[in-house]
Amino acid sequence: MKDNSKTFYISTPIYYPSDNLHIGHTYCTVMADAMARFTRLQGFEVMFLTGTDEHGQKIQKKADAKGVTPQEYVDNVVAGIQKLWATMEISYDDFIRTTQPRHKKRVQEIFKRIYEKGDIYKSEYEGWYCTDCEAFWTDTQCPDGICPDCGRPIGRAKEEAYFFRLSKYADRLKELFTTTDFLQPQTRVNEMLAFIDQGLEDLCISRSSFDWGIQVPIDEKHVIYVWLDALSNYITALGYPELPGESSEKYEKYWPVNYHLVGKEIVRFHSIIWPAMLMSMEEPLPQHVLGHGWLLIDGGKMSKSKGNVVDPVMLIERYGVDALKYFLLREYTFGQDGQFTNEVMLNRMNYDLANDLGNLVSRTTSMIEKYCGGIVPGPGKEEGPDAELKAMAVECYKKVEEAMDKFQFHIALEEIWTVIRRTNKYIDETSPWVLAKDPANAKRLDTVMHNLADSLRVVSVLIYPFMHTTSSKIREQLGLGEEAPVWNEVTFFDMMNGQVAHKGEAIFPRMDVKKELEELEAIRAAAVAAANPAPEKEEPEEVYEPIKPLIEFDDFDKVDLRAGTIVKAERHPKADKLLVFQVDLGFETRQIISGVAGSYSPEECVGKHVIAVVNLKPRMLRGLESNGMLCFACDDAEGKFTFAGAEAKNGLVIG
Ligand code: MSP
Repeated sequence: MKDNSKTFYISTPIYYPSDNLHIGHTYCTVMADAMARFTRLQGFEVMFLTGTDEHGQKIQKKADAKGVTPQEYVDNVVAGIQKLWATMEISYDDFIRTTQPRHKKRVQEIFKRIYEKGDIYKSEYEGWYCTDCEAFWTDTQCPDGICPDCGRPIGRAKEEAYFFRLSKYADRLKELFTTTDFLQPQTRVNEMLAFIDQGLEDLCISRSSFDWGIQVPIDEKHVIYVWLDALSNYITALGYPELPGESSEKYEKYWPVNYHLVGKEIVRFHSIIWPAMLMSMEEPLPQHVLGHGWLLIDGGKMSKSKGNVVDPVMLIERYGVDALKYFLLREYTFGQDGQFTNEVMLNRMNYDLANDLGNLVSRTTSMIEKYCGGIVPGPGKEEGPDAELKAMAVECYKKVEEAMDKFQFHIALEEIWTVIRRTNKYIDETSPWVLAKDPANAKRLDTVMHNLADSLRVVSVLIYPFMHTTSSKIREQLGLGEEAPVWNEVTFFDMMNGQVAHKGEAIFPRMDVKKELEELEAIRAAAVAAANPAPEKEEPEEVYEPIKPLIEFDDFDKVDLRAGTIVKAERHPKADKLLVFQVDLGFETRQIISGVAGSYSPEECVGKHVIAVVNLKPRMLRGLESNGMLCFACDDAEGKFTFAGAEAKNGLVIG
């Protein structure tokens, strides 16, 4: 964290508004929110930025399929995203949309600056291009024609394009990774160094085959390719570059950013392309890029087509915002992937929230009401476990600060829960209900009640960044008013004398986990059914690929297509996505490799009739030769492949 200034700037990625966001997306925003609230509480002036990344071919295609303009399409999804953040009480300071004029004109200015620096040139691009990920890949990154990110087979693309001289910055980037703590965790640093060592190629930054993007300022045929557009959001939102009559005061105040939080798959863009762009513009580099892991479901990524996307709104409606935030921050370790299961979530909520915290609040307030007429008494002589309790409560903030400095939300919460559990134990040890029976123990009872109230007050401050509504409810029950707490309060005890406390509603009611699990399972089954509707039901709206430009018959005739049958199928030993087939072509049996392991198991493939391209030059795919290509019907949106074969005699020409 910046020591020498009292400002703090943190960002989330800007999300694609191609669809509604799921629980995985909310994970990053919840972490950024907790960090923003924590630093605000510590007295920093905070800039917490989030937003949406609205350009690109994918959005254009989705809008076309719906028969609306891309702008109408994104306006609708973005409204939903903003509503989600409002429901989740996300305390962002600014929400940037890449379709806003404030962003577009500045991105054009950024393009011009880099161009004038001599770092942008026009050339022709030929390479692998994944339409789904909107990513170009070099031969080294994509040796097998399979997108390294999403695992789909992808094609070659060739077009006139502008390039950014990324290669020029390879040495400076390596230095950045090796001499600073710019990128964390360390595993990502090693990945990035290995990536640079493969040879950093210049980056294609414009496209001319679609137009849903920001126009290249020096060439109206081109739009700026998404990453240059998207990454710039972190400074355009601050008013950089300064434009006539508009202030860049926020840029002066907050840049360089303290932390860019990003998912592991986009670390590459943030830690290589983004600093290189800033180097070219001669602007300061981000202080830190932090790569977090993914929330996985059934061991894989959440996917709408599998119907296993967890809807945060549904969870909030059932369990509340704070319970969901607590679970996300407590359960997962920053930087690592984590499994999402309903059972783990419900148990966390029940044990930690309803049992530990909920019980502490209700026991404390009801005993103050019962034994002290609702007024927190002053303390008497310290004895028994008092000193240990006090020390634990007032020391906890140091451990929380230490953990938060490393983005270890789960440890910060674990430390706070140690105090909560210790306080519950203190109740059992001191047994106020026994003390209350004998008037001779009145002073001791006062001391115990006082200590309980004060410990709970400390807890209410410590949890504030993570669950501010719960914090306020506790403080209200303790008679502390509606004002947000100040962090400094956590450093001392004995603040509660004379406060008027009362028992309120249970802050986290206990749940019947078995019943909840059944209900959540029913919701999930309904989602799966909706994702795979029975054939007689109304067909979902189809999105068809646009037809490619016309070709001459001679061009088509060059492709030798044959009927064949798969006689053997195995998984590729070195690539999860690939299946290795032996295909009987009548005149010979040969090996052909396809990236369809996500759609078929090897067993399902044996005996399938296929159409094979048999005059494609053989290629090595992760160490095994593929001699030809099989044809599949490919549903990009669903990520599914279906054999495009007929029962023709093996070896016959298809044409
Ligand atoms: N638009 C780009 C980011 C541009 S930033 C200049 C993008 N958008 S995204 O919507 O696809 O993803 C946004 C973030 O959500 C990524 O950091 C990604 O890792 C994160 N997540 C998406 N699914 C996730 C999980 N299941 N779990 C955790 N985070 C995940 O990439």
